[in-house]
Amino acid sequence: MRGLKGKIAAVTGAGSGIGQAAAERLGEEGCKVAVLDINEAGARTTVDHITAAGGEAIAIRTDVSDEASVEAAFAEIVRRFGRLDILVSNAGIFSGERDDKVDDLRKEIWDEIVGVNLTGMYLSCKHGVRTIKATAGKGSVVLTGSPTGMSGCTPANVAYGSSKGGVHGLSRIMAVDHAPEGIRVNVVVPGFTLTPIVRELVADPKVYEWQIQNIPLKRGAEPEEIAGAVAFLASDDASYMTGSFMFVDGGLTAI
Ligand SMILES: NC(=O)c1ccc[n+]([C@@H]2O[C@H](COP(=O)([O-])OP(=O)(O)OC[C@H]3O[C@@H](n4cnc5c(N)ncnc54)[C@H](O)[C@@H]3O)[C@@H](O)[C@H]2O)c1
Repeated sequence: MRGLKGKIAAVTGAGSGIGQAAAERLGEEGCKVAVLDINEAGARTTVDHITAAGGEAIAIRTDVSDEASVEAAFAEIVRRFGRLDILVSNAGIFSGERDDKVDDLRKEIWDEIVGVNLTGMYLSCKHGVRTIKATAGKGSVVLTGSPTGMSGCTPANVAYGSSKGGVHGLSRIMAVDHAPEGIRVNVVVPGFTLTPIVRELVADPKVYEWQIQNIPLKRGAEPEEIAGAVAFLASDDASYMTGSFMFVDGGLTAI
């Protein structure tokens, strides 16, 4: 893809799943990658994969829900790599067991899920965009959204769906605000992707079958199938795209 070689990219939640695949793909495309995750061991594994493939990467333990941690992570990226061009704001949590219908949802569960999935995206974008503006000057931001932010396709997960709806709103306003500065902002919308976050769903064959039945391609995605779209949105091949939503969902939202 055009325009990725030599760029500096930060990926949150890159110690596992979609973030890990996106970090590895950006590494393959020639980016130097900062791997941010609350799970330090996972982040180090991703760095090992990137360096084993001939790329360059650093791991930075980051809790996206904690502003001091996020600010320190971006300062560390500038210290190590001198610049930031690309932010992939991806870290997120899901809990089908603890999330609920609105009348039964405990406030601490709402706070936890919204705190990572929406406040964490706001904090990552706040300090990521500041860093891009202060160093590279212009760049690209890709946020990980969800079909649950657009429809009621995952019932009884009010906190998760609300947090993702918030991410979609955040991205639209960011796209408009930062277009004049040469910073593009887009959303990748993964469908049912076979990562640890859906472990609970995959463990229950009935729920898994229900998920697959509603997907025209009749299967879940591999994380690498989402990573290609992330790299495309980050690249100069997407130079006329901002405020866009790219669905990579096997047709889920087409029906
Ligand atoms: N898997 C799916 O079906 C699916 C579908 C749509 C959207 N998504 C979204 O994709 C993104 C990635 O999910 P995934 O499926 O790869 O899950 P995953 O659990 O494999 O990866 C999520 C990563 O985020 C990290 N993380 C969690 N809390 C964090 C925090 N406070 N600070 C920093 N890192 C933190 C985890 O340690 C983990 O490495 C999430 O935003 C998720 O909501 C996933």
